[in-house]
Amino acid sequence: MYLLRKVPIRPKLMIIAMSASGAALVLAVLAFLCYEWLVFRSGMVENLLIHAAMVSENSAAALTFNDPVSARQTLRALNADPHVTAAAIYGPDGKTFARYQRRDLSGPFYPPPVEMDGYRFEAGSLKLFRAIRPGGEFAGTVYLQSDLGAMYTRLRRYCAIAAIVMTVSTLLAYLLSSRLQTAISRPLSQLAKVVRVIANEKDYSVRAARQSEDELGELIDGFNGMLGQIQSRDLALEEAREGLENRVEERTRELRLEVAEREKAQGELIAAHQQLVQISRQAGMAEVATGVLHNVGNVLNSVNVSANLLFDHVQQSKASSLTRVVALLGEHQHDLGEFVTSHPQGKHVLALLKALDEQMAAERAGALQEIKSLRANVDHIRDIVSMQQSYAKLGGVREEIKVTDLVEDSLRLNAAALSRHRVEIIRDYQDVPVINIDKHKALQILVNLLSNAKSACVESSQREKCVTLRIVNGEARVKILVSDNGVGIPPENLTRIFGHGFTTRKDGHGFGLHSAALAARELGGSLNVHSEGPGRGATFTLELPLDLADRGGIHTC
Ligand SMILES: Nc1ncnc2c1ncn2[C@@H]1O[C@H](COP(=O)(O)OP(=O)(O)OP(=O)(O)O)[C@@H](O)[C@H]1O
Ligand SMILES: [Mg+2]
Repeated sequence: MYLLRKVPIRPKLMIIAMSASGAALVLAVLAFLCYEWLVFRSGMVENLLIHAAMVSENSAAALTFNDPVSARQTLRALNADPHVTAAAIYGPDGKTFARYQRRDLSGPFYPPPVEMDGYRFEAGSLKLFRAIRPGGEFAGTVYLQSDLGAMYTRLRRYCAIAAIVMTVSTLLAYLLSSRLQTAISRPLSQLAKVVRVIANEKDYSVRAARQSEDELGELIDGFNGMLGQIQSRDLALEEAREGLENRVEERTRELRLEVAEREKAQGELIAAHQQLVQISRQAGMAEVATGVLHNVGNVLNSVNVSANLLFDHVQQSKASSLTRVVALLGEHQHDLGEFVTSHPQGKHVLALLKALDEQMAAERAGALQEIKSLRANVDHIRDIVSMQQSYAKLGGVREEIKVTDLVEDSLRLNAAALSRHRVEIIRDYQDVPVINIDKHKALQILVNLLSNAKSACVESSQREKCVTLRIVNGEARVKILVSDNGVGIPPENLTRIFGHGFTTRKDGHGFGLHSAALAARELGGSLNVHSEGPGRGATFTLELPLDLADRGGIHTC
C-alpha cells in the first residue's frame, strides 16, 4: 500500500485490477490442483486395491497348496501396470511367500514386515496391505507398492495448463483493465488538471466536465459547486476590497482635511494662547501695579498724617510771636537800652525771647521726628516702586535679613497709624536664623497684615486695641504670626478673603491679602488665617522657608 501511494492513478488502478484478478486466478488454480491431486490419489488407491483383489483371488489356491511358484506367476501379472514397483505375498504366519519387483528397479526388494489392512503414501510411493481370505478364512496377506510417477506427470500437465490459463487470463485482464480503468482515471485526471489550473492561475471560473452518473459524477458536481461558491465569495471579497479601498481613500482624504483643520485650529490656538499670555501678563502687570498703588496708598496715609502734623506744628508755631517781638524791637532801635530796661513792655522782652527759644526747640524736635517718619515712608514708597520695577524685570533681589528687622521695619512703616489709633503692640520673638529673601516682598506682606490688623481693631468696639507679633522657629521654616483682638472673621469669609477684590471695608479695595498671598507663594512660603469668629480677633500666619538656597530662585507672576 505504501509503495502505491506515489503511483499515478492510472497504473494504480491497473495494478489493483491485475492483482485482484491474478490473486483470484491463482487461488482457483491452486484449488483445482488440490482437488485433482486428492481425486488422483484416491484413484490410485482404488486401482491398487483392484490389483490387490486380483492377486489375493489368484494366489489363494497357491497359498492353500503351498505353491510359491504359482504365487510368483500371479504376481508377475502385475507387469501390466508399469507404476507397480514391487509386490509380495505373505503366508498366514507373516513370512514372505512370494515377491515381485519391477525389472528396472536396481537392487533387491525386501518386503516390509506384514501389517494390517491399509495403505499409506510414503517416500514417493503408495504402499498397501490387504488380507487374503478365501471363503472368509485368513490365508495370508498381499503387499503392493506403487510409484507416484503417474500422479506427478498428471500434476505437471495441470501446472502447464494452469500457467497457460493464467498467462492468457492475465493478458486479458490487462487489456480489459487498461480499457475499463479509464472510466475512473479519466474524470479524476481531469479533476486534477482543473485543480492545478486553479492553484496556478487562481482562476475559479474553470469547471470539470461530468462524465458519469456515479459517485465520481457526484464528486465533480460537488467540486464544481464548491468552485462556484468560492468564485462568488471571491467576487464578493473583491468587491468588498474595492469598497474598502474606496472607503480608506475617502477616510484618508477626510483625515487629511481634519488634520489640516486641526493644524489650522492649533495654529489659531497657539496664536490665541500667545495673545492670552500677553493679556495675562498685562493683567498680571496691572495687578502688580494695583498692588503697588495700594501699598503706596497705605504708606501715603502715614505720609499724610505726618504732613498734617507738620502743618499743625507750623500753624501753631510760636514763630509769629517772634515776629511781633522783632517788630517791637525795630520800633525802639534808637533807644533799645532804655526800652529793655525801663519800658513796661521792653522789660519782658528777654523773658519772652527765652520762652520762645525753648518753645521753638521743642517744635523743631517734633518736626524732625515727623520728617524722619516722612523720610522712612518716602523710602518705603521708593522701595515699593523699585519692587514694581523688579516685577517688570521678572525677578526679585534676594538679600540676607534678620526676621526681627523685617518685622520691626514693617512696624515702623505702620507706626504713625498704629499710634494714632492707640493700638498697643506686643512683641514675642523667638531666635530664628537669618533668612535669604526678597525683602520688599516680605515687607509688603507684613505691612498689609499690620494695616488690616489695625483696621480690624479700629472697627471693633474693643477699648484695649492690641496687635501681637510673634516670630516662631518652625521645621525648616520661620513663622511670623500677626494677631489682633479686632472684629474677627466669620467662617464663611475665611476662604474668600484672599480673593482678588474681596473687601468688607467701606474704603477697602480687597487687594491687600490677595497680593500678600501671591507674594508669600512666590517666596516659597504660605499665608494662612485663623479666626474664632466675629468679635474674636484674627491671626494671620506667614510661613517662610529657612533654606532658600536650594530653591533655585524666586518665582514671580
Ligand atoms: N485682621 C483682620 N481682621 C478681620 N478681618 C480682616 C482682617 N484682615 C483682613 N480682613 C478681612 O479681609 C478683607 C480683605 O482684606 P484686604 O487687605 O485684602 O482688603 P481690604 O483691607 O479690605 O482693602 P485694601 O485692599 O485697601 O487693603 C477685609 O476687607 C476684611 O474683611
Ligand atoms: Mg487691607
